[in-house]
Amino acid sequence: MTRIYIQEVATRDGFQIEPAFVPTEDKIALIDCLSETGLAKIEVTSFTSPKAIPNLRDAEEVMRGIRRVPGVEYTVLVPNVKGCERALSCDVDEINLVMSASDTHGLANLRMTPEQSLEQFKAIIEVTRGSGVFVNASLSTTFGCPFEGEVPEARVYELVQKLLDIGVQGVTLCDTTGMADPAQVGRICGEARRRWPQTVFTAHFHNTRGMGLANAVAALNAGIDRFDASLGGLGGCPYAPGASGNICTEDLVHMFQRMGLDTGVDLDRLLEAAASLPGLIGHEVPGAILKAGKSDRRYPRPKWMDATA
Ligand code: COA
Ligand code: ZN
Repeated sequence: MTRIYIQEVATRDGFQIEPAFVPTEDKIALIDCLSETGLAKIEVTSFTSPKAIPNLRDAEEVMRGIRRVPGVEYTVLVPNVKGCERALSCDVDEINLVMSASDTHGLANLRMTPEQSLEQFKAIIEVTRGSGVFVNASLSTTFGCPFEGEVPEARVYELVQKLLDIGVQGVTLCDTTGMADPAQVGRICGEARRRWPQTVFTAHFHNTRGMGLANAVAALNAGIDRFDASLGGLGGCPYAPGASGNICTEDLVHMFQRMGLDTGVDLDRLLEAAASLPGLIGHEVPGAILKAGKSDRRYPRPKWMDATA
């Protein structure tokens, strides 16, 4: 069975855009629960400026407070050297550097153009040397920018090459505001796999325009085996206008399992964790399987059939 790696981002991509701060102990309890579901990786939090992302201002407490399960990788989002130093002090397994493929989103989100982010990353990689920490980079707006529109594919490949040249080990291709379509995803993911067959690629989709799971299948068919997804379908970048939730983890796992793929995830335990979200954040979540049940859900036949049988 083909092995697929599911990487949970709800406590980072999800909680960063929630209207209310999720209490630290609730974040820790949720991550501890998620650690027992068979997920390959959990993006715990981000080490960003607390002014930029106030909801994740408790990053150290959360990262140090969770119970780490062997076999699960714990990663954190990092935009700059200061964030990297904070992350290393918490003994993370991976840092996930974030930059944008488009200048305008880069400046809006990080106050850095892609080239300025690359300069930060060079310094970060120096700081991580000898630490054994895996360095991944997430390329926001790979499939389109909410300010600039189309991002030329040649620009995406140029930036991936630059990331690899400075020593980044894995690259996440991010559709920040759900602009990607499956044909484009197949093209870009396929080209990335052809150009850099040894590189660990992850696909990161948002379901803003309802194309999220279709894009995941397109990425799968192009040879991608790692997917970011968010419990309940939470998520979104606060500095990308019109952003909304990631593809929903339990919906993605349900789909891949139906397709006969091995996600390593216990879907029932994942659904239990998802069911706790509305109580935690104070509103319903977009996920479909939580509402509809798994596709093996059966209902009693209409009563009149039994009466006349
Ligand atoms: N962690 C904590 N504090 C940080 C920090 C970090 N990683 N980076 C900067 N800061 C602090 C500085 O110490 C400074 O604090 P002060 O005002 O008390 O002196 C303040 O933030 C401004 O620092 P500066 O380097 O000028 O940052 P900036 O204002 O240019 O912002 C970023 C740049 C990258 C720090 C900020 O835009 C950011 O954190 N963005 C994250 C966006 C994000 O996560 N988006 C969603 C994910 S895609
Ligand atoms: Zn995202």
